[in-house]
Amino acid sequence: MAEKLQAIRGMNDILPGESARWQFLEQAVRDVLDQYGYQEMRMPLVEKTALFCRSIGEVTDIVEKEMYTWQDRGSDKKEGELLSLRPEGTAGCVRAGIQQGLLVNQQQRVWYQGPMFRRERPQKGRYRQFHQIGVEAFGIEGPDIDAELILLTARLWQRLGIKGLRLELNSLGTSESRQQYREQLVNYFSGHIDQLDEDSKRRLESNPLRILDSKNPALADIIAAAPSLPDSLDDESKAHFAALCAVLDNAGIDYELNPRLVRGLDYYSRTVFEWKTDQLGAQDAVCSGGRYDGLVEQLGGRSTTAVGFAMGVERLLALMPETNERDAKPHVYMVLVGDAAQAKGVAIAEALRSHQRAWRVLVNAGGGSFKAQFKRADKSGAAVAVVIAESELENDTVVVKPLLTDQEQQTVPVAALADTLEQQLA
Ligand code: HAM
Repeated sequence: MAEKLQAIRGMNDILPGESARWQFLEQAVRDVLDQYGYQEMRMPLVEKTALFCRSIGEVTDIVEKEMYTWQDRGSDKKEGELLSLRPEGTAGCVRAGIQQGLLVNQQQRVWYQGPMFRRERPQKGRYRQFHQIGVEAFGIEGPDIDAELILLTARLWQRLGIKGLRLELNSLGTSESRQQYREQLVNYFSGHIDQLDEDSKRRLESNPLRILDSKNPALADIIAAAPSLPDSLDDESKAHFAALCAVLDNAGIDYELNPRLVRGLDYYSRTVFEWKTDQLGAQDAVCSGGRYDGLVEQLGGRSTTAVGFAMGVERLLALMPETNERDAKPHVYMVLVGDAAQAKGVAIAEALRSHQRAWRVLVNAGGGSFKAQFKRADKSGAAVAVVIAESELENDTVVVKPLLTDQEQQTVPVAALADTLEQQLA
């Protein structure tokens, strides 16, 4: 027998029984974003590798270890370019915004959704193909827009029935103040170089802020005693951050200040935030983001402030209560015995779908005895079976049989079927 082909580890199928939950979440997100005036954007799944190197940063886990990258086929004259599956959406969104002229002298509020790809070690809540919904706002400098994004997420958790998330906030300051802080950190950690692990030694020169993010318990004491980021902030960033906190206080949003929150991507400045859960083990971030005021210019656009976040759909779904999903079960299952009944039943089903757009009407296909068809009807979870066989054909009637209650079945004229179903399904 031929070897069975399997999906790639960490890349999951979303099965028919699961998709209703996904759709419920996606619809709730769409509704909430619409309320705040955000418009959807769709970007390619593949971009030039250089885009991700220049935005996320050369010395980040994502770019160093996790991207799916290959060389495109070239031509006689030219070597093929390096391309990558997108590991996140911000880089492509900014690239598109610059290329399509969406960012110059204007404000933009946009969102996107779809699969992202990172070659991480798969575990609960961490996949190689995972799904993000990302939201980005361009051209607005003040903390009001940072606050809007956070309020929007809080509203979304409420819509989805997700409880117990914690909001962590920090400010990384401007790139100048971050540069100064970087130097302080390099000095400090250089003084403790023999206590650092290999990863942190490597980061000391390239990306010392990421040492603060280390999960190695052996480094906890040195990290705790490191110079503090908030102390080194420039005055403008301090004021920006204080104003954000004031809006959140006013709106009754709880948050924790976490001076060690530095994020794993290099493009951030000023505000960074993460919504975290205690229910998913190590994969505790469900929604993360912040300001990236320098990125548009860094990628060749005119200097434009920006702020955004992305949420992990799989992680949110794991936290969403069961009761929340849209019911995908049919309202009606048509049991049709014989060829003539089949033909008539199809026409009746079409009429029912025109009568009520919300009704899901499943027509038995592939024939079968009464018994076999009723078995399928029960399995489908339909509320009502509409039955047509020989005697119904003769009398121009149908039998309406409730499947989920003990109610008696009734025989009604075809002309009265829609009204009868209205009552039954109310
Ligand atoms: P990120 O923190 O890398 O940020 O990812 C955002 C969210 O995606 C995480 O909080 C997590 O919920 C989810 N996520 C990340 N990796 C995985 C994975 N392997 N499996 C499952 N879920 C995952 C960004 O991607 C930035 N682009 C966010 C942003 C937008 N910042 C500004 N604008």
